[in-house]
Amino acid sequence: MRMRWPAAAAAAALAVAIPESALAAPFWQTSATSSQAQSISFLFWVVMAIAAVLLVGVLGALLLIVVRFRDRPGAFDPRPVYGNLRLEMVWTGIPIVILIVVFGLMVGEMGKEIDIGPNALDITLVGHQWWWEFRYPDNVVTANELHVPVGRQVRLTLLSADVVHNFWVPSLNGKEQMIPGQTNIWTFTAGSAGTYDGACSEYCGTQHGWMRLTVVADQPAAFDQWLAAQRAPGPAASPAALQIYTANACGGCHTIAGVSNGKVAPDLSHIGSRQTIGAGVITNTPDNMRRWLQSPQDVKPGSYMPDFHFSGDQAQTLATYLESLK
Ligand code: CUA
Repeated sequence: MRMRWPAAAAAAALAVAIPESALAAPFWQTSATSSQAQSISFLFWVVMAIAAVLLVGVLGALLLIVVRFRDRPGAFDPRPVYGNLRLEMVWTGIPIVILIVVFGLMVGEMGKEIDIGPNALDITLVGHQWWWEFRYPDNVVTANELHVPVGRQVRLTLLSADVVHNFWVPSLNGKEQMIPGQTNIWTFTAGSAGTYDGACSEYCGTQHGWMRLTVVADQPAAFDQWLAAQRAPGPAASPAALQIYTANACGGCHTIAGVSNGKVAPDLSHIGSRQTIGAGVITNTPDNMRRWLQSPQDVKPGSYMPDFHFSGDQAQTLATYLESLK
């Protein structure tokens, strides 16, 4: 990560005070892997450095004054001072200079982030209570796990299907709102391959806390492979699985390419390829999938996935089918 000297000094001072586990956390500012997140990180550390200098300076001066000028037996009252033009100019001037410097740095960093290149990959994101829909070119639709190519600018069109959500992946960029009836554009370029955690950062109802997302930044070739796999149809359902899926009208809410067309819940065409179930609430394993199908309200209370009271066998059959949709 690029870091200039005041930033580096503040980082060093803070690193002493903050436990390593916190620094490793994905929501901490040091995990920037895009130029956008690096800009935010740089400004964060500059302001932190200035604040650290002020804190030490003010507390140091206070301590010095308390000790040095404390009351002593037989001491006279000090001579009162009324106004000191030079002092007042200094303590007015310092904040003005600080604000001008921070403003200048901010405008400089913002200027880098505005251009959207002709090669940007367009992805439309729709916020739902409480999951994320991702629409890629050529009708590839997926949910909760956003794949992007490393080194290529991503142009996100942010929408909402219900209430205000807020898209936030700290390693990649700042926060941007998803507002019903409004279109917001957001960009980032992932600098290195990896998996980055994100979350909805604006309260949006019961399961706001479990409106997580995962961003997987792939090398371009791996990304193309992923996209081709998402575009290809999944394996056919067994008659038993299809019967359960149809009889319970799962397809009224969910899409599985070639099977159903529901639009209000996550697209399941390739659910088996994702890392989590329920927008990050549990990891995607066959066992967890069965658990989720049997008691969605225990796994994610308030979720709009109803409890269909599947028998163990039914849940198993359906889970096996869904997990096969890689
Ligand atoms: Cu969506 Cu909070």
